[in-house]
Amino acid sequence: MTQKTALVCGAGGFIGGHLVHRLKQEGFWVRGVDLKFPEFRDVEADDFVIGDLRRQDVCERVIDRRFDEVYQLAADMGGAGYIFTGEHDADIMHNSATINLNIADLCHKRNVRRVFYSSSACMYPAYNQEDPENPKCAEDSAYPAAPDSEYGWEKLFSERLFLAYNRNHGMSNRVARYHNIFGPQGTWQGGKEKAPAAICRKVASTPNNGEIEIWGDGLQTRSFLYIDECIEGTLRLTRSGFEGPVNIGSDEMVTINQLVDIVSDIAGKTLHKKHIDGPTGVRGRNSDNKLIEERLGWRPSQPLRSGLEETYAWIERNVRRNAA
Ligand code: NAD
Ligand code: GDD
Repeated sequence: MTQKTALVCGAGGFIGGHLVHRLKQEGFWVRGVDLKFPEFRDVEADDFVIGDLRRQDVCERVIDRRFDEVYQLAADMGGAGYIFTGEHDADIMHNSATINLNIADLCHKRNVRRVFYSSSACMYPAYNQEDPENPKCAEDSAYPAAPDSEYGWEKLFSERLFLAYNRNHGMSNRVARYHNIFGPQGTWQGGKEKAPAAICRKVASTPNNGEIEIWGDGLQTRSFLYIDECIEGTLRLTRSGFEGPVNIGSDEMVTINQLVDIVSDIAGKTLHKKHIDGPTGVRGRNSDNKLIEERLGWRPSQPLRSGLEETYAWIERNVRRNAA
């Protein structure tokens, strides 16, 4: 049997790194491409190209064959502290759209049949996410479109782009809408980290009975999906007969205050919350998992706490190492 091949765009990033690991376990020959090597793990791809996917010549070089599977994860992205401040809007839209335009077209020209594209829950309309206890994020609630960030608008454009190649060029691209993915080897400091990593870092670096800062009143809600289930859902969707778009997320919704309490409990600390002004994004968000269950016969099920235990242990080690 010939060895299957995969291209992972964004292989130096959090989800890309975990995906390469899983594909190698499955016996794939893997090429990774990114602006940088993975920060927290060894390179596991058979071939790792340092390259800028905004450049067409780089895309031509890395998409040089008919890969069995292509995963398009490369993007200019970050948590609330990066995408909601407004300071990076032009870069986010330009960088990510250029990458997606290049990859969709080059894959079509090289006769690649199937590209997985990672869209985001940030594409859902803000008007359905104002009630923290009852956000609406069913896939068919996407229109009339009104994402609350330029990051979300670019995701919406690009998911439409990959699906247009299906209709007009006979491709079988797959689109997932990820809901806040977390886990070890994710960005945990520097401004692009998301709430789970930021809270783990703050809890780990604060002594018992100390105080930690939380953006907003902490009553905003989210759900967080552990990386292993994100990878599982990604592979299941890619290899299924369903093109999406479909949510890949947890439906265990918590307030940010509850998130802090769970992490504090894992750490065995009593901490005081200081609510401060900060970029907060939508008031409530939760994954609606009806469609994924219906179409893939699978849905994420791991409790939030177990993923946070793994993540806290990893971030706590990093905090200690940095302090030493
Ligand atoms: P990440 O930032 O860790 O990984 C993205 C990678 O893309 C980075 O390593 C970055 O260097 C690379 N990249 C950026 N511009 C590039 C360029 N011009 N050329 C080559 N590489 C480039 O992010 P992640 O958490 O691994 O997310 C992966 C994908 O999933 C992204 O498209 C992101 O928007 C999407 N997503 C993630 C989440 C989440 O919670 N992590 C939620 C929704 C959607
Ligand atoms: N990052 C961060 N850091 N968020 C904090 C903090 C903190 O110290 N304190 C409170 N929060 C709050 C934010 O204000 C926000 O209301 C909530 O925690 C969640 O923040 P993030 O995890 O940073 O981002 P998000 O859930 O709004 O958006 C993320 O998920 C999307 C998919 O669901 C981002 O990663 C997007 O890029 C992603 O597409």
